[in-house]
Amino acid sequence: MSIKVNFDLLKSFVTDKDFESVIPALNIAHGFLYENNVNAPGNHAHGWLDLPINYDKEEFARIKAAAKKIQNDSKILVVIGIGGSSLGARAAIEFVKGKNYNFTCGKLPKIFFVGNSMSPAELNEVVGFCKDVDFSVNVISKSGTTIEPAIAFHIFKKLLTEKYGDKANERIYATTDAVKGTLHGMALKEDYERFVIPDDVGGRYSVLTAVGLLPIAVAGIDIDALMSGAADSREKYSVCSLDNDCYKYAVARQLLYRSGKAIELFISYEPDFLLMNEWLKQLFGESEGKEGKGLYPSSAIYSTDLHSMGQYVQDGARILFETVVHFENSKSEIEIELDEDDSDGLNFLAGENLSSINKRACIATALAHTDGKVPNIIINVDGMDAYNLGALIYFFEKACAISGYILGVNPFDQPGVEVYKKNMFALLGKPGYEELRAELKARI
Ligand code: PA5
Repeated sequence: MSIKVNFDLLKSFVTDKDFESVIPALNIAHGFLYENNVNAPGNHAHGWLDLPINYDKEEFARIKAAAKKIQNDSKILVVIGIGGSSLGARAAIEFVKGKNYNFTCGKLPKIFFVGNSMSPAELNEVVGFCKDVDFSVNVISKSGTTIEPAIAFHIFKKLLTEKYGDKANERIYATTDAVKGTLHGMALKEDYERFVIPDDVGGRYSVLTAVGLLPIAVAGIDIDALMSGAADSREKYSVCSLDNDCYKYAVARQLLYRSGKAIELFISYEPDFLLMNEWLKQLFGESEGKEGKGLYPSSAIYSTDLHSMGQYVQDGARILFETVVHFENSKSEIEIELDEDDSDGLNFLAGENLSSINKRACIATALAHTDGKVPNIIINVDGMDAYNLGALIYFFEKACAISGYILGVNPFDQPGVEVYKKNMFALLGKPGYEELRAELKARI
């Protein structure tokens, strides 16, 4: 199997007895997910649990067909979405294909992600890229009303209509709710190809639905392998036991939180993991940060950030622990060659592979940080391909759900996100927000 978790460096921080003390809470958390418990918070949003085996096969085939069509008729795919409707696909493409995918994609379409900010500069830049080439749009919004993607779609739909006239709709793929929402209504009326975000799968758990699968497939990534990795994780991490590494990781996080650690730093030594770090921050931050509780998820790419945040991690406030995602096999290799003159003093590395140097940096750092009272959990993964990605996605989704339930929150809602939205709508003059608008205006 592709994932092995190493808890050895936790030993001086968390004892076996500590782990065992959480078993009753772990049993409750597991029951919340599996026993159709009416008292389980967010029990309407457990659809992701069986998604790797229980997905709509007809739609899956349509996703592949749509991906092929886009690959054949478009130089660019513009993916419009925010949060859970954007991060997963973006992270997956960078994980498997690399952060420079748009430079290395060859004949495959370049993929740009917009609708995840309200920056005119960002939108204008991508509009400029699309002006003189054939492009398609995948607009993704579960609610169908989120303002950032709605504005971006407004702009790109106009561009498509200017370019393709009444054939514009043939280049729009809408991923949204099956029956409701503004985007769903538009898709029906204007006859876009539609893909569904299942009702029982929340945004941040939706990467293995059409939300992630269509852009990922357009990038030429094997979505069968992705689902198969997730399916193997589903099987492997299904038993309620501390021998289940996924559950043990969830418990370890909560024990560290109880012992005063406030921040979990997700670490990778692969820059192509940068967007996965963002996905992880959303997954854990939105799932656990509520009711005044929750670990604050942060991230770093090492060894890059050892030259910036490394100082704080080694020596600053002792409020951190690290979850290191380490890859056994590198996507490619570089061997350090002997230099006759040893002018750069690197001959002590001659014959070494760079991946093995990277690995030793990882071990050295984990030991140094552990000595500096920063507990380390190491998640070893075989490699950075679609199968391992699917396995890792499911591992983290499940760990997050179990961890949130142990913490005593609903890991599937995000009530806090609504607060800024209401204020923003009020300040923008959206009908229905007049009272709040007056109140906010008086404060600014
Ligand atoms: O995880 C979540 O639920 C959020 O991040 C949403 O995905 C995000 O707010 C976008 O919502 P929507 O897909 O409804 O536009």
